[in-house]
Amino acid sequence: MSKKHLYTSTDKMSDIICDNYSLLQVMSRFDLPLGFGDCSVEEVCHTHQVDCPTFLSVLNFINRGHSRNFIPSEDISVQSLMDYLKNAHHYFLDFQLPNIRRKLLEAFDCSSDNEVTFLILKFFDVFVQEVRKHMHYEDKYVFSYVAHLLQGEKDEAYCIDKFVRHHDHMDEKLAELKNSIVKYYPANKNAYLMNAVLFDIFLCEQDLASHAKVEEYLFVPAVLRLEEEVEKHRLTQTEKQKEVPTTTTEANKQDEATDLSQREKEIITCIVKGMSNKEIAEHLYISIHTVITHRKNIARKLQIHSPTLLTVYAIVNKLVDVSEVKLSI
Ligand SMILES: [Fe+2]
Ligand SMILES: [Fe+2]
Repeated sequence: MSKKHLYTSTDKMSDIICDNYSLLQVMSRFDLPLGFGDCSVEEVCHTHQVDCPTFLSVLNFINRGHSRNFIPSEDISVQSLMDYLKNAHHYFLDFQLPNIRRKLLEAFDCSSDNEVTFLILKFFDVFVQEVRKHMHYEDKYVFSYVAHLLQGEKDEAYCIDKFVRHHDHMDEKLAELKNSIVKYYPANKNAYLMNAVLFDIFLCEQDLASHAKVEEYLFVPAVLRLEEEVEKHRLTQTEKQKEVPTTTTEANKQDEATDLSQREKEIITCIVKGMSNKEIAEHLYISIHTVITHRKNIARKLQIHSPTLLTVYAIVNKLVDVSEVKLSI
C-alpha cells in the first residue's frame, strides 16, 4: 500500500501498521491496544467501541501527508476526535516531553562546565511550559466549549473561529532547539545518547505538527458543522416558541368549544344555516330574548362576532356540514 492509499474499514489493522509504523500513535490515542490478529479496522473499532469513520479519517489524513485537500468523512464524531486529541495532550505532557528531558540529562556531558548544555536545558524547560499552557487552554476552554455544544448549548461569547485565529504551532519552537543542538552542541563522549535524544526530538516535532493539523483541518471543520447544527436547532426552537401563543389560543378555543353548552352549539348551527333570531326561537321552542342571550354568550366565549367567522368556526369544529351552510354577508 502506498502513501496515496486510502485505508478502508475492511483493511487489516496489522497490515496498516506494517505499511506505516508512525500510525501506531493514532491507534494508541484512540485507545486501541496491540494484538490485532487478522482483524479488520471495522472489527477492531467495534471491539473497542471506537468510532470507525473518525478513526479512518485521522488515519488517512496523516497517511496522506496532512493535506489541506483531504476530504474527511462527514460522519466524523466530534466527541471521538476530541477524546483522541485529549489523549494526545496526555501523551505529550506526561510521557513524551518528560522522556526527552530525561534522555537529554543522560546525554549531557556533566563532567565539563558546558554553557551550551545549560542553555539547551533551559530552552527545553521553557518550551515544555509553553506546550503545557497551550494544551491546558485547549483542554480547559476549547474542549469544554465543544462539550457544551455537543449537549446542544452554545456559549455565545466563544466560537471555534477564535481558537483558529490564535492557534500556535508548537513544533516550530521545538525546531529551534533541534537546530541549536545540531549546530552548536560540542562533541562529547555521549554521542550515541545525544543522537538518540535528537532522534526523539525530530519525532516529537513531527508529532506536534501532525497534532496541530488534525486540530485545524479535521477538528475545527467538524466543530463548525456542529455549531451550525446547534444554531439551526436554536432557531427552530425560537420559531416554535413564537408559535406557542397561537397554539395556546387554538387550544383555548378548543377548550371553549367544549365549554359551549349543547344549546349554544344548536344556536350556532341555526345561525350558520342562515336562520333569523325568530326562526331559531321557533325552531328550538325558546324565546327570542333567550336566543339573543345565547348569542351574546357564544360571542364572548369564542371572541367571534361575525356570522362569517362563526360559520368557519362551526365547520372547523364539525358542528355543521359545509352543504348546510348559508353565508350571510
Ligand atoms: Fe492540542
Ligand atoms: Fe493545539
